[in-house]
Amino acid sequence: MSSHPTRRTSAPPRRSWARRAVTAAVAAGAITGLVVTSPAATASPAAPASASAFNDTRAMDRPTTSAFAAPDISLANVKSHLNQLQTIASNNGGNRAHGRPGYRASIDYIKAKLDAAGYTTAIQQFTANGATGYNLTADWPGGDPQNVLMAGAHLDSVNAGPGINDNGSGSAAILETALAVSREGLKPQQHLRFAWWGAEELGILGSRHYVSKLPSTERSKIDAYLNFDMVGSPNPGYFVYDDDRRVEAVFKNWFAAKGISTEIETEGDGRSDHASFKNVGITVGGLFTGAGRTKTAAQAQKWGGTAGQAFDRCYHRACDTISNLNDTALDRNSDAIAHAIWTLGAPS
Ligand code: TRP
Ligand code: CA
Ligand code: ZN
Repeated sequence: MSSHPTRRTSAPPRRSWARRAVTAAVAAGAITGLVVTSPAATASPAAPASASAFNDTRAMDRPTTSAFAAPDISLANVKSHLNQLQTIASNNGGNRAHGRPGYRASIDYIKAKLDAAGYTTAIQQFTANGATGYNLTADWPGGDPQNVLMAGAHLDSVNAGPGINDNGSGSAAILETALAVSREGLKPQQHLRFAWWGAEELGILGSRHYVSKLPSTERSKIDAYLNFDMVGSPNPGYFVYDDDRRVEAVFKNWFAAKGISTEIETEGDGRSDHASFKNVGITVGGLFTGAGRTKTAAQAQKWGGTAGQAFDRCYHRACDTISNLNDTALDRNSDAIAHAIWTLGAPS
């Protein structure tokens, strides 16, 4: 395994310390990160494309530390995207819902940022409830096309409000992570694909459409899909999806290292876009800070906030505005997302 992630030649080598650390650690045999293409898979052409480390139980037990630390995602930048989404809602009848002009404007905002950063973007149209819906995908050029790591968030709001926590938060967090990949000139081993889904609020329709249109050969290249739906709840909890223990561990380890306790996400399994992927056998994971469920006394003890109150009292309501966010939760989750992309996508 000679190839570890390197920087694009056009970008200055800002992390020579990290590279030296990798070299030293590898020489010392200290790092056994995720191996994307195992020697066995390379030797045997019959091995299926999906036989990557994500589906390799031996690899699952290896440490997941990446020697290339993810950058600190800027809360200010994430909030700047959220302010834009709030303005889009305010200028378009107060929402960014499927079939409404605020949704299309949201797609256009995200797409322009990604195009300017060097992503290959595509808008996929579909029809739902008699209206045109849109999914947006953004592929980062490079990486092994046989091993795709995806991260996604639904971009539509309900009709009732601007949908800033649900799910401007996940949408902005993965956008800023994608922009960080570009700024850092990351050359991950995995091929990275980010996605913004339409019509989630109508029953995960956009992501279901995407998966249904994916040829099985393309499906089998997706090693994991990471979902971020509501990551800035005003009275937050720190919930990690437990669908795949390797992906779950990457998130849990990040929070544990910061001294933040996590719980397994249980507020409605299958209630977001990861279900579209999980239903066809793709490995999934994700983060969540809570919706309409009430924070218990024990949870308020460890996480702060208000016991006896919903994690998000404005869930699916008009008051899910730019004020309906916990900045600390939004910042932590954004940083955890970047950590997962760097660790799973650009392993040492
Ligand atoms: N957008 C989701 C919904 O409206 C929010 C949600 C509820 C959620 N429960 C969840 C997201 C559990 C992830 C996991 O249903
Ligand atoms: Ca940060
Ligand atoms: Zn919702």
